[in-house]
Amino acid sequence: MVALTARSENTQSHDRLTMQIVDLGDETIAIRSLDWDRDRFDIEFGLDNGTTYNSFLIQSEKTALIDTSHRKFQQLYLDVLKGLIDFSTLDYLIISHTEPDHSGLVKEVLQLAPQVTVVGAKVAIQFLENMIHQPFQSLKVKNGDHLDLGNGHELEFVSAPNLHWPDTIFTYDAKTRILFTCDAFGMHYCDDHTFDEDPELIEADFKYYYECLMAPNARSVLSAIKRMEKLDINTIATGHGPLLQHYLSDWVSCYQKWSQEQAKTDTLVALFYCEDYGWSDQLARAIAHGVQRNGVAVELVDLNTAEPHEVREFVNQATGLVIGMPSQSNQNAHAALSTILAAAHRKQAVGLFETGGREDEPIYPLRNKFQEIGLTEAFPPILVKEPPTHITEQMCDEAGTDIGQWLTRDRTIKQIKAIDNDLERALGRLSSGLYIITAQKTDVTSAMLASWVMQASMNPLGVAIAVAKDRAIESLLHVGDRFVLNVLEEDNYQSLMKHFLKRFPPGADRFANIKTYPASNNCPILADALAYMECEVTTRIECSDHWIIYSSVQTGRVAKLDAFSAVHHRKVGNHY
Ligand code: FEO
Repeated sequence: MVALTARSENTQSHDRLTMQIVDLGDETIAIRSLDWDRDRFDIEFGLDNGTTYNSFLIQSEKTALIDTSHRKFQQLYLDVLKGLIDFSTLDYLIISHTEPDHSGLVKEVLQLAPQVTVVGAKVAIQFLENMIHQPFQSLKVKNGDHLDLGNGHELEFVSAPNLHWPDTIFTYDAKTRILFTCDAFGMHYCDDHTFDEDPELIEADFKYYYECLMAPNARSVLSAIKRMEKLDINTIATGHGPLLQHYLSDWVSCYQKWSQEQAKTDTLVALFYCEDYGWSDQLARAIAHGVQRNGVAVELVDLNTAEPHEVREFVNQATGLVIGMPSQSNQNAHAALSTILAAAHRKQAVGLFETGGREDEPIYPLRNKFQEIGLTEAFPPILVKEPPTHITEQMCDEAGTDIGQWLTRDRTIKQIKAIDNDLERALGRLSSGLYIITAQKTDVTSAMLASWVMQASMNPLGVAIAVAKDRAIESLLHVGDRFVLNVLEEDNYQSLMKHFLKRFPPGADRFANIKTYPASNNCPILADALAYMECEVTTRIECSDHWIIYSSVQTGRVAKLDAFSAVHHRKVGNHY
């Protein structure tokens, strides 16, 4: 084992950043970037013990690098790599998924090794193309595909969607019996131990990480564990924290037990699609993203390979069904559709989408059959004739949001009713203003009526807004995104309020028949608003069912100096 220590050079913080290089035997090396002082991971959770970003190198007849590191390790990581390999001999860069803590240095590796072939799931390669804006050679792999590095290092790829990103794949090396799982089975824990020899030290972090990242996708965890069963695994090489070797079966059993318990209580959408047909993967994942916004679980089921009993089981467990139309010639998918129709029942909600594969099974006859059975249509059929754009993805995301909201409506009503009458009326006495948030990201626009808005800082100027987690606009309000805060005018807000309170079908233009003009940050300013401010999101804080979004304010203007802002008086405080 070699440990290199150096302070972070690319930040002004005094975080301790060190590298650990460990020979795992059989031409395999772990390159671990140790981030000792990181105290928060994204917005998701606070960290007590830092974290690590683990990358792996297999140097056989062919050389493969599995994942890279976080950008903050750029100098350290690339220096280590330069000492281990001649970049001109790097054959493959395997991307387990495309989150920046593992793919943050892909661009730099590509510059040093332009000949390298990037290996990943189809969606991962698409994400990367959008991320690094330069051509590269790629190999798209799916579940069960193999890649031979020579000398017994026969790699097998295991699809593990949603663990914890939609594009996740595991990589199994038949020679070393190591399964490289990136986020799955990981933990945010940083110390000098490479392995899990002391489970008491890490079990709390292992469980906390599972609860934050994996529990929302419990069924996907169970599917991945099922796929792992046929592999003879000696080590699970995770992307975060120590590698699992000494108590391997215990760790996997924990994931299985926790996921089984979690899956029992989840509301589930079974989303059937055909990997590698048309744009099915991309559209399915956008819909899944919208569904999950409501805290509803999604199981992605590939109609190409699903066994009839699996299909039946998913339909039986699900309260929502979403189907991407297969090709007319796909026999396996047709058999699966028959199984779905036989098992579906009237208490379920359903949504259908075309995949843009050009030979899609027609959508309307299937829609009619579901209507005959009595299922509720959660969103109108999505018809895709052209390659999907950001707008198509947004439409799919909103369709997913709609089905998620439909499936959770009983829960929402129950929560509303659970609050004591006196308390809900007291909460209702908290007055507020009336605002329209308008946002644009790439060519996607959205808007929402907001009442929880307030100035939150003076230097720099900042505002805070609350956005319910199940609002589709939430995806346009991440750190760095821009929006306009439109202030409505007293006695002149009813038509705008009515318009933006409407329920819009997925993909509908929120600004049709509304007068707007572009702000300098490109977001729409409502011509009839009393005032506007151009804002940029700085921080998001998770507050149970809402995000509190703190944003800096760049510029603003008042249309009528003598007019007052609209004030919103509510009757109750437990729902909108
Ligand atoms: Fe560790 Fe999903 O990134």
